[in-house]
Amino acid sequence: MRGDMEAITQASSRARDLVKQILTFARKQDVVKQPVDLAMVVREALRMLRASLPATLQIVEHLDDVPPVFGDPGGLHQVAVNLATNAAQAIGSVIGTITVRVWAARDSGASPQRGPVEPIIYLSVADTGTGIPAATLDRIFEPFFTTKDVGEGTGLGLSVVHGIITSHGGEIAVHSKPGEGTLFTISLPAHGKGQAVSQINPMAA
Ligand SMILES: Nc1ncnc2c1ncn2[C@@H]1O[C@H](COP(=O)(O)OP(=O)(O)OP(=O)(O)O)[C@@H](O)[C@H]1O
Ligand SMILES: [Mg+2]
Repeated sequence: MRGDMEAITQASSRARDLVKQILTFARKQDVVKQPVDLAMVVREALRMLRASLPATLQIVEHLDDVPPVFGDPGGLHQVAVNLATNAAQAIGSVIGTITVRVWAARDSGASPQRGPVEPIIYLSVADTGTGIPAATLDRIFEPFFTTKDVGEGTGLGLSVVHGIITSHGGEIAVHSKPGEGTLFTISLPAHGKGQAVSQINPMAA
């Protein structure tokens, strides 16, 4: 009886996770974009996550005061949650650190003729976890690609992140090696620059 109940509980949480990820796709269709303080969104997401993470896991935050980005606060919250969750899962129950940074920098590629350069806002999430083998690295953004056990991962986390960032006119870079941890870096245009994306729609990304 107990075994059956446990199986039901596990299947239910998997269904919950799946629905949550799918809803983040669906909801984005009618999101109204607004100026968003990325540092605040990230701080809030980490505070929410902290409670559910083991005490062996240290979270280091370096969140600068940055100019606003233009976008969907709920989507950007989801980005921070998904990246930090992956980082925590890659560390597991051993001692480890997740370092989260938010900062702004000038776009060095701009030419003087184009006038004042708008800053780019960066979010990076680094972990001391397992790292990612090269063959896996090629596939991590694919929907439903997961190396986790049934009940642990749906494989939608990073494809949701990719969809949200692309629909904000941003980019994602990842550096990882087995045994050396993983670094995800996201860049987003500051509010006022490159706001050609009129509608947030990760499905189209
Ligand atoms: N920080 C990380 N360290 C090591 N591997 C990672 C990391 N982030 C992602 N991965 C790898 O990429 C795969 C895909 O990640 P993704 O977030 O899309 O799905 P998931 O975590 O498996 O499931 P879900 O996020 O839906 O619960 C993971 O299964 C894992 O193999
Ligand atoms: Mg994930």
